Amino acid sequence: MQKRYFIHTFGCQMNEHDSARMGESLLRAGWVAAEAPERADLVLLNTCAIREKAEDKLYSALGRYRMLKAQRGARIGVAGCVAQQEKEGLLERAPYVDFLLGPDQIARIADLAEEGGVETGWVPSEEYVFPRADPESARGKATAFVTAMKGCDNVCSFCVVPHTRGREVSRPYAEIAREVASLVEVGVREITLIGQNVNSYAGGCSFAQLIRRVAAVPGVRRIRFTTSHPMDLSPELVDCFRDVPQLMPHFHLPVQHGADTVLERMRRRYTIAEYEERVARLFAACPGVALTSDIICGFPGETEEEHALTLALLRRVPYDNLFSFVFSERPHTAAALRLSKERAARERSPQWLEIPRAVATRRLEEVQRLQQARTVARHRSRAGGEVEVLVESARTPPGLAGERFGRSRENWTVHFAGACAVGDLVRVRVERAGLVALVGAEFEVIDATAHRAPPAPRTRLAVVSA
Ligand code: SAH
Ligand code: SF4
Ligand code: F3S
Repeated sequence: MQKRYFIHTFGCQMNEHDSARMGESLLRAGWVAAEAPERADLVLLNTCAIREKAEDKLYSALGRYRMLKAQRGARIGVAGCVAQQEKEGLLERAPYVDFLLGPDQIARIADLAEEGGVETGWVPSEEYVFPRADPESARGKATAFVTAMKGCDNVCSFCVVPHTRGREVSRPYAEIAREVASLVEVGVREITLIGQNVNSYAGGCSFAQLIRRVAAVPGVRRIRFTTSHPMDLSPELVDCFRDVPQLMPHFHLPVQHGADTVLERMRRRYTIAEYEERVARLFAACPGVALTSDIICGFPGETEEEHALTLALLRRVPYDNLFSFVFSERPHTAAALRLSKERAARERSPQWLEIPRAVATRRLEEVQRLQQARTVARHRSRAGGEVEVLVESARTPPGLAGERFGRSRENWTVHFAGACAVGDLVRVRVERAGLVALVGAEFEVIDATAHRAPPAPRTRLAVVSA
């Protein structure tokens, strides 16, 4: 009987992408996918360390999977950022884990699944080979992530990513273009270029040039990218929003805070004036762009005045949506180091005082309340109008109208009734709009997909790639 694996993924797009590649490696090695962890011989957790909560989720999931191991002898593996951060410490806390592998080692998954062990070393940048996506996994899908670069060379004082993902390495552009072409061939129409700091890309051309090269691959209808650092928002990249028609009008540009003093403690390398100047250029090139951002509340030493500057920034910049978080102290980061020094010192410097949880949460709620009202208003302004949607999923329960899901050009999620296929570009009339999604009905197919065939059964993957 073939052995079955189940992958539980936490965290960002990089992890989702890595999980897909690890699944493909396991299929090549003769494993098959299990529909549920209860039926798996191997449960692999691909983990995130960005905030304490993310790590807590790992340990509570591990507690559940431990039962499966006791009941049916399933092997348990931990991959991703917590494995890289904790290394053997994780095995001390959860000794029933059979193996660990860091983000640079995902190609080794099949060996580790058999042999166990710990593989968390870094591959030297010049030797690193980006795992190639198997296009067969994307058959039947409208969208795909494509890795442009990995790692991060910034030193934001709150952030664990440089520690868990290592130095920046960019993937050669020709390799990216080849992968994009292979995905388009199986029906993918939207490509999201991913990397922790994607716009610092340097794989033989600039990031702006990479976007133009991807746009030149025949059949690419939509391009997105994530995530960007404001310092790397070049005028050249702004120009792409003006003159690359496939580049979608959505930009996720994390600002983190509204006060220069806090940005300095965060080591973000820009001032609010510089940030707003870049944003103004972006809006000038692409007036309809949906700008989204990340905010951290309760960074050490954050005063009420500094917090008020964040609220003021949010009133000035017309963000489409925000992801906001309470500061979480992460191991190995400069902020954590500084906090531990301050704790040890008798005289605490007010600039690095810890913010009580209740205060940080109240500030977070203020940020969220302010933004939510605006996000709903922006969504509602589309009610009665229309949006262009790329269909990502299609369900037609017997006897009922088809339930369709997709994203607008701005990256808004849209649920609608219709008969279109996954991969179709359609126009949807918006009937209702809330905080997280628009609801409407399809009224026109703009550009039907040429790939209407049903998705290939999963087991075919192993045969095709063998
Ligand atoms: N590379 C991206 C960030 C990826 S992490 C960038 O530079 O924008 C995603 C978001 O998590 C960050 O933008 C930040 O807002 C948040 N984050 C990161 N570390 C955090 C921490 N220690 N506490 C709270 N939020 C954090
Ligand atoms: Fe973290 Fe800063 Fe790098 Fe983003 S740019 S991944 S926040 S260190
Ligand atoms: Fe989390 Fe690692 Fe991504 S810490 S956000 S999974 S890079």
